[in-house]
Amino acid sequence: MATDQQEGLFAPRASGPTGVGDPGIAVGAPVAGAGRGIRIPRRLVLRWGLWGMILTVLGQMSGCFVGFVWPKKVGAFGGLVTAGEVADFQVGDVKLLREGKCYVTRVPEGFLALWWKCPHLGCTVPWRADDPSEDAIASAGRFNCPCHGSIYDRYGQIVAGPAPRPMDLFPIVIEGGTVRVQTGPTTVVVRARSDSMEQFPVQ
Ligand code: FES
Repeated sequence: MATDQQEGLFAPRASGPTGVGDPGIAVGAPVAGAGRGIRIPRRLVLRWGLWGMILTVLGQMSGCFVGFVWPKKVGAFGGLVTAGEVADFQVGDVKLLREGKCYVTRVPEGFLALWWKCPHLGCTVPWRADDPSEDAIASAGRFNCPCHGSIYDRYGQIVAGPAPRPMDLFPIVIEGGTVRVQTGPTTVVVRARSDSMEQFPVQ
């Protein structure tokens, strides 16, 4: 017959397991008296970390894909904005294109899209149709910035005021008789001075 000491060493105790190393205790399972928190197996932590990395990479790839296939902004600032038909413009006309934050001007050489942002300190430059003209195209009309008085002609050329250069341009696309402006700060053409090479002739 086994003694109490033999039972403790070589045979299961009558009461349940009480410590680490006892048969019947799963690895990482809470152990009475062995700690206050829950133990998480290292293998499980590594598995979670691996899945986290995989999901992060998949998320980034999905974001790139959606950005690639998502339709580009059209008809608003930052995208291609339709100004109208070529036939809608007479030489000397200046049309406000509010969605594109610019003016489309028809000059004898073609079309210009002038960003309404003043090159001086960024005020919005209005077109003054009744002011005296600063060019030979028409008798009236010029741009006059209300902030510090810079004045520009139909080409956006600086005529007077503190602005350091002409009004900036947006590229124009003319296809099938329709005039469109490629708007946005990333497409803007900054020019040191106005000349005919920077205009976009009717196609
Ligand atoms: S912001 Fe237009 S002249 Fe100063």
